[in-house]
Amino acid sequence: MKILVTGGAGFIGSAVVRLAIQRGHSIVNLDALTYSANLANVADAARHPNYSFEEADIRDRAALDAIFAAHQPDAVMHLAAESHVDRSIDGPAAFIETNLIGTFNMLEASRAYWQESGKANFRFHHISTDEVFGSLGEDGQFTETTPYDPRSPYSASKAGSDHLVRAWHETYGLPVVLTNCSNNYGPYHFPEKLVPVVILRALAGEPIPVYGDGGNVRDWLYVEDHADALLLVLENGENGRSYNIGGENEARNIDLVRTICAHMDDLRPEGAPHDRLITFVSDRPGHDRRYAIDPKRIRDELGWRPSVTVDEGLRRTVAWYLENRDWWQPLLGRDGVGKRLGQV
Ligand SMILES: NC(=O)c1ccc[n+]([C@@H]2O[C@H](COP(=O)([O-])OP(=O)(O)OC[C@H]3O[C@@H](n4cnc5c(N)ncnc54)[C@H](O)[C@@H]3O)[C@@H](O)[C@H]2O)c1
Repeated sequence: MKILVTGGAGFIGSAVVRLAIQRGHSIVNLDALTYSANLANVADAARHPNYSFEEADIRDRAALDAIFAAHQPDAVMHLAAESHVDRSIDGPAAFIETNLIGTFNMLEASRAYWQESGKANFRFHHISTDEVFGSLGEDGQFTETTPYDPRSPYSASKAGSDHLVRAWHETYGLPVVLTNCSNNYGPYHFPEKLVPVVILRALAGEPIPVYGDGGNVRDWLYVEDHADALLLVLENGENGRSYNIGGENEARNIDLVRTICAHMDDLRPEGAPHDRLITFVSDRPGHDRRYAIDPKRIRDELGWRPSVTVDEGLRRTVAWYLENRDWWQPLLGRDGVGKRLGQV
């Protein structure tokens, strides 16, 4: 299958590109190369004859039309987005422009292409987040029918994009599938997100910031498991249906941070104990307390379950960062990295 992947130079998109190439698909990677992109993430895949790259912005409809016409894809996997909640608090405009207007452009370009090309099996896979469902109390889990209740500019822009995708399916008949996943972590994670921040601060012997009381609960999904689930939904998901993807790994932030520190102690004992560096800092405004995914639909209908526990996934991730300084070192100089963002 020839798949047009948007955001394929980012964290999750690049995992999809690497896995899809490995499985024999052809990939057109469309990416605007914003601050969070890194073509090094796909350096091996890029050597494959089935890979091509288009530097383009999803806010530019004409560019999208030209790419569809040139490559004639069988499917779209739409991951391009502004993705960092803290940045959405400081500068929401980019989130509205890329996540909402950009998704609108992708839908319109896909619809025009689908109608003109006559590709009966074409489908548009929209990749979204569990953050659209809002915040849970101590109990309960998000299902695919949980009402939307986004609470940050990021999650509101993603919720809006999900609504657009469903509307294009209902109104125009565009074949779509949607996925809403939990927090990803793993290799090639841009060093502004919690897991790489903890690893790199621990490695540098610097304070490890934990927001609020550290009691916020997330479900953690290893990025390579996520890529596997995404390709499965693209190929076998039911037209018009959405699937929640979780790691079956709920953890409080403070426990996650302590687990990373324990792996650092094992793999880099000279800095131990790394948890002495944990420092509680003021909370993020509107910080959702708990997210949890009910993974029943993807498990029962498509037979998918995550392959690694959070403990194993974190160990692999810590080892990867320790072995790949050449990848992350240059990223530390990018705009905003290492600074406290998202305080009002
Ligand atoms: N990281 C997570 O834990 C998580 C969880 C759930 C859902 N998601 C969703 O998965 C997708 C990918 O997230 P990620 O963590 O890989 O993000 P990322 O920030 O690492 O990558 C985003 C990519 O999109 C590209 N991009 C941004 N704006 C663009 C534009 N206007 N035109 C073209 N390309 C543009 C960037 O250059 C970058 O390569 C997003 O849609 C995000 O909402 C992420």
